[in-house]
Amino acid sequence: MSRHSDKLLIVGLDIGTQTVSAIVGEYEPGQPLEVIGMGTHASNGLKRGVVVDIESTVQSIQRAIEAAELMAGCSISSVYASISGSHIRSLNSEGVVAIRDREVTEGDVERVLDAARAVAIPADQRILHVQPQEYVIDEQEGIRHPVGMIGVRLEARVHVITGALSATQNISKCVTRCGLKVDDLIPAQLASSQAVLTKDERDLGVCMVDIGAGTTDITVFTQGAMRHTASLGIGGDQVSNDIAFAFRTPTPSAEDIKVRYACALAQLARPEETIEVSSVGDRPPRRLSRQMLADVVQKRYEELFEMVQAELRRSGLEELVAAGIVLTGGGAKMEGVVELAEEMFHMPVRVAIPQGVTGLGDLLANPVYATGIGLLLHGSRQSINQGRAVAAGDAVGSAWDKLSIWFKRSF
Ligand SMILES: Nc1ncnc2c1ncn2[C@@H]1O[C@H](COP(=O)(O)OP(=O)(O)OP(=O)(O)O)[C@@H](O)[C@H]1O
Ligand SMILES: [Mg+2]
Repeated sequence: MSRHSDKLLIVGLDIGTQTVSAIVGEYEPGQPLEVIGMGTHASNGLKRGVVVDIESTVQSIQRAIEAAELMAGCSISSVYASISGSHIRSLNSEGVVAIRDREVTEGDVERVLDAARAVAIPADQRILHVQPQEYVIDEQEGIRHPVGMIGVRLEARVHVITGALSATQNISKCVTRCGLKVDDLIPAQLASSQAVLTKDERDLGVCMVDIGAGTTDITVFTQGAMRHTASLGIGGDQVSNDIAFAFRTPTPSAEDIKVRYACALAQLARPEETIEVSSVGDRPPRRLSRQMLADVVQKRYEELFEMVQAELRRSGLEELVAAGIVLTGGGAKMEGVVELAEEMFHMPVRVAIPQGVTGLGDLLANPVYATGIGLLLHGSRQSINQGRAVAAGDAVGSAWDKLSIWFKRSF
């Protein structure tokens, strides 16, 4: 079924550690993408970005998809899904081919990208994405669009992102178990970067840090191209665990205290401010100082930023990110996070909300949707580039299709 037959539909499914979000977009090539529906559900089967319980993950995805279908008024049959976790690695590679007829064709570009992706990776990893950085024709460097140019030798420099085979298979399995086709599995940081970074930042050099619940996803751009990608197994969940431990309070209450009262810089909390904290068991609640809370939170955010700094240093790009740091993801909503990061990185820092789509008013102006919106933006560009753009109805299918998949699975 379709809403408007002349438009294309696309669905992004962000399978996060805390939340699964399904976002439905509608677009025409050359026009801004419009979000027409979304659904979210608590994610119950992931730890640090990786599936640890298939059944619970399947249920969370199903609930999020159902809510998105209801809002968009369609039945979803395929999705661009996100993948995250500390198994995500990256490397830079290059490939060279001879230009067949003096003028570069689409076929030459495909061959040179194939040559560039032929790199040795560990047997338990698979390539998730190959992002062209630049092309070189004969001695001419820095070419972005080589098709139609004249020369004899075409070289491609690319950024290759890989992920653990088992983790990618488990994510795909969860999605297909819901009766959905996986259009592509996109690394979460690649998706988020499409939604939150500006062209100027990518050209000048920038490090994007998406602080989620279980992972912190990093990607670095310099001279307009992606150069380094990594994922740290630390995020907002650790902050909540620290609060639960330090304040001897149940984890759900620690999460609530964190979101309502915490800040990442102890000097922002006044010593006289106190908050009510639930106790474990049937003990009565207590009042504790907000500054103590900020102390606990600051320590964990400092550790997180030290790890980001170490990763940036390891990439050799620390000196090249003149546009500084862009924070996104739910963990970036913490009060005082920009001040703390600026103090630690000695660079400009901003918190980014996703951009580049219309629809649903202010609902999507929230860092937690960076990956979901990025999946839509990346997926729509990819399908236009590959000529895979499909008429409305291909990303959504009939209720009968879903019923028959469920029937086949169950018997
Ligand atoms: N206002 C807030 N202040 C501080 N932290 C917040 C706030 N809102 C959300 N968070 C934290 O953000 C995290 C969730 O962010 P997000 O939705 O981006 O994660 P996720 O995508 O589900 O997880 P991941 O990307 O790690 O797999 C949680 O740890 C949550 O406590
Ligand atoms: Mg996330």
